[in-house]
Parts: sequence; C-alpha cells; structure tokens
Amino acid sequence: TTRIPLIAGNWKMNLDHLQAIATVQKLAWTLRDKGHPFSEVEVAVFPPFTDLRSVQTLVGADSLDVRYGGQDLSEHDGGAYTGEISGQFLAKLDCHYVIVGHSERREYHHEDDGVVARKTAAALKHGVTPVVCVGETAADLEEHGASAVPVGQLKAVLDAVDAASDIVVAYEPVWAIGSGQAATPEQAQQVCQALRATLAEAWGDEAAARTRILYGGSVKSSNIAGFMAQKDVDGALVGGASLDPEEFAAIARFRN
Ligand code: G3H
Repeated sequence: TTRIPLIAGNWKMNLDHLQAIATVQKLAWTLRDKGHPFSEVEVAVFPPFTDLRSVQTLVGADSLDVRYGGQDLSEHDGGAYTGEISGQFLAKLDCHYVIVGHSERREYHHEDDGVVARKTAAALKHGVTPVVCVGETAADLEEHGASAVPVGQLKAVLDAVDAASDIVVAYEPVWAIGSGQAATPEQAQQVCQALRATLAEAWGDEAAARTRILYGGSVKSSNIAGFMAQKDVDGALVGGASLDPEEFAAIARFRN
C-alpha cells in the first residue's frame, strides 16, 4: 500500500474570511508555480468555520487542488445546540476533512475520549474524513512514557467506529505544540509505529497499512524532511507555520 502524504494546516483561531481568501490563493499559486504534484502530496487547510464558505467559493471558482476542512464538529446532526456546527453543514461546504479531538479541544473544552469517539462517528456518518488527534502532555510523558496515552486515546476511537472507516490519525505531543520544541523524528516514529500497531490490532493489517498517520508539533520547512523520512509518518499537521502561505508551501514541498 502506498499512503499519499498529507500536509495539513490547522489555522486555529487565526485569519478572518478575507485573510483566508488571500492566504489560500497565495498558497495555491505558490504551489502551482513550483509544479506541486497534488496527487503525490496532498495539501489541506483547516480555517475557522466563518472562513469555510469563502474558501469553498475560491477553491471552486479557480479549481484549486487545495483541500480544506473544519477544525471541529458537533457530535449531533442538528437541533437545539447553540453555537455548534454539524457534520452535514461541513459536508455541504465540500469539506473533505474535519479535525477531531485536538488537544486544545480536549483541554479547554473538556472533550474526553467518549466525545472524541462520537465526533469521529458523526464525521464519518456525513462522509467527512476525521483527522483524529492524539498525544501526551509533558506530565504524561514523564509518568507513562510517550506511547501509552496516545495509544489509549486512539483505541477509544477505534473501538467505537466501524473497522473499515476512512480516518487520518494525527500524533501531536502536547509539549511540542506551539513550543518551538518539536519531537525528534525518532520520537515521532516510535509513537506513530505504536499507533499503527494499535490500528492493526483493532482494525486489521489492511486498515493499518492504508491509514495515514501525521505528526504535529512545531513542524516547519526546516524540520519537515526528517519527519517525512520516517517509515510510519505520513504527513504533518502544522499550526503556526501554516499561517504563512510561502512557509506552508515549502513544507508541502518537503521533497525538494
Ligand atoms: O494542529 C496543529 C498543532 O497543534 C501544531 O501546532 O505547529 O503551531 O506547533 P504548531
């Protein structure tokens, strides 16, 4: 199985809908100029909800190859859930992906493994591919080592949804997020390998071979190649560095 690398940019709560248009345009043009092989390295951005309609219009009008998705979704399909966004709405905006269980959601919005599993199921139900985030805090690392917490978080999701499901896993050590202190490629490989073994155990070898596992945490153009050289790292979930379209394009061009 060949897994097509995915370079994903999580903008978090940055860039309004006008800045989103300028950023996606610049990103797409930069990649086009360099002859980026989109079928060989997929590129996706995750703007705030209020930007998605602008991004959809731009991508549709210019037939850009950049994919996009939401940063979160509701576990419910619709109804009296003030402030929530349904997976159906994301699907209607042609979102290819949605991030689920980002550490900032787990920490600031108290999303536990049960919530993350239900959100993953909701995304799949509406045909939006979930990017399931897992990762250990600095305290977890000290107490349990690197793999135990992310493996447990992934298991909770795998046990709750269909084994044949199309998901992406993102390993993000919480201590590496926004800290400038990325994991080493070897550390990332060690945990991503454990996550793939978890996939194999829960869903079988075929699913483990096909499912992409990303690394996230202080990824930039100067360190991406080291991560991509690892056997079980199939891409990156990029935060801060994805806000600069030229830097993000350089990350997507990790091969040259
Ligand atoms: O979702 C992205 C991650 O939280 C990584 O953020 O690249 O700013 O460290 P960062």
